[in-house]
Amino acid sequence: MRQFVVLGHAASTDPDLSLDDLPGAGRFDVLCRAVTAAFTLSHAIREDVRCFLVLQNRLSIRLEGDELRYLSPDERNVASLLKNALEAAETAVGAQAVESTPGIYAAKRGFEALLDDLDGTVIQLHEDGDPLPDLGLPDTPIFVLSDHEAFTDAEAALLAEHADARISVGPEAIHGNHAITVVHNYLDTDGYTRYDR
Ligand SMILES: C[S@@+](CC[C@H](N)C(=O)[O-])C[C@H]1O[C@@H](n2cnc3c(N)ncnc32)[C@H](O)[C@@H]1O
Repeated sequence: MRQFVVLGHAASTDPDLSLDDLPGAGRFDVLCRAVTAAFTLSHAIREDVRCFLVLQNRLSIRLEGDELRYLSPDERNVASLLKNALEAAETAVGAQAVESTPGIYAAKRGFEALLDDLDGTVIQLHEDGDPLPDLGLPDTPIFVLSDHEAFTDAEAALLAEHADARISVGPEAIHGNHAITVVHNYLDTDGYTRYDR
C-alpha cells in the first residue's frame, strides 16, 4: 500500500466552490492534479493507493484506490467528486468520517490528528531532502507533500517529530503531482531496477 498526504493550505472547504475557477478556490486545481497523479494509470486505477487531502488544516478527505468509483483523470471530474466530499463533511460529527461517493471519505480532522493515526513509514517529500534511492523500499510508505506553498513552520515541526525520512526526488523543485509520479515510478521499478511488465 502506498499512501500520499497532500497539504492544501488555502484549499476551499466550501461545497459551492466553482468548477469553472478551481485555481481561485485556494488552488483546488493542485489537489485535483495530485489525486489524478496518485490514482490514475493509462486505463486503470491504482488500487494499492490511499490519498489524504488536508484542507486548511481542519478537514481531511481520504480516497481509497480499491473502492473508488466514477474517478476519471480530468480535473473537473475530480473536483466534482471532492465537492461532494465537502458537502458530506458538513454532516460529519466529531472526527467521524462520512463517505460521499464510493471510496471517498471526509472528516473534520487536521494534519496533526491525521499524522497520529497513520501507520507506516512517514516520508516528507522536500526538494532539500536526501536522495530518493537512499529511502530503500519501505513496505508501507506514506509520502507527505505540500501544495503550491512551502510547508509551514508548524507542519515542519510536526514532520520533524513524526517523519522517518525527508526525501528529495531530484535537484529541481517540481510540482507536487509530478513528485507523486516520480515516487510511483521509483516504487513501480523496485528502485529503478525492474522494467519488465
Ligand atoms: C510546488 S512544490 C512547493 C514548492 C516550494 N516548496 C515552495 O516553497 O514554493 C510542492 C511540493 O512538491 C514536493 N516537491 C517538489 N519538488 C520536490 C523534490 N525535488 N523532491 C521532493 N519533493 C518535491 C514537495 O512536497 C513540495 O512541497
